[in-house]
Amino acid sequence: MDTQTQRILTDDMIAEIRDMYQHFPVKKAACIEALKLIQKHHRWVSDQAVQELAEVLDMSPDEIDSVATFYNLIFRKPVGRHVILICDSVSCWIMGYEKIADYLKQKLGIQFGETTPDGRFTLIPICCLGTCDRAPAMFIDEDLHRDLTVEQIDAILERYP
Ligand code: FES
Repeated sequence: MDTQTQRILTDDMIAEIRDMYQHFPVKKAACIEALKLIQKHHRWVSDQAVQELAEVLDMSPDEIDSVATFYNLIFRKPVGRHVILICDSVSCWIMGYEKIADYLKQKLGIQFGETTPDGRFTLIPICCLGTCDRAPAMFIDEDLHRDLTVEQIDAILERYP
């Protein structure tokens, strides 16, 4: 790597990742936790971060990328200030997910996987959030919103400037 390039993984982060893999029989077992750590610091995981993590975990960048792509809470492109994760699993489907999703897309002017032009929201579908008895449901950042109706959406979004 070009030594002039600003590194994504700081010495502290690398030390933390090393500490993670001490607890596993192979370094690569720490991959998801390491990706989460990078995302905690940078909000998403860039190609450069993948490259650097590959060096630390003795994996290829492709291997890291397939883990990151499989695990849909790892963001491989920049996200907005707030991330909406809307459940598209069966209970939420039955209880009106489609209306909520359509309203969100129309209100925000984006499709799934996209970020609003002002950088405020990213909208992502996700499988069951484990609150099926209160479907439909979505997370915005760390907040779980349940028993959703279209009528509530505007007021909910206003809480996230
Ligand atoms: S199906 Fe949506 S929370 Fe379980």
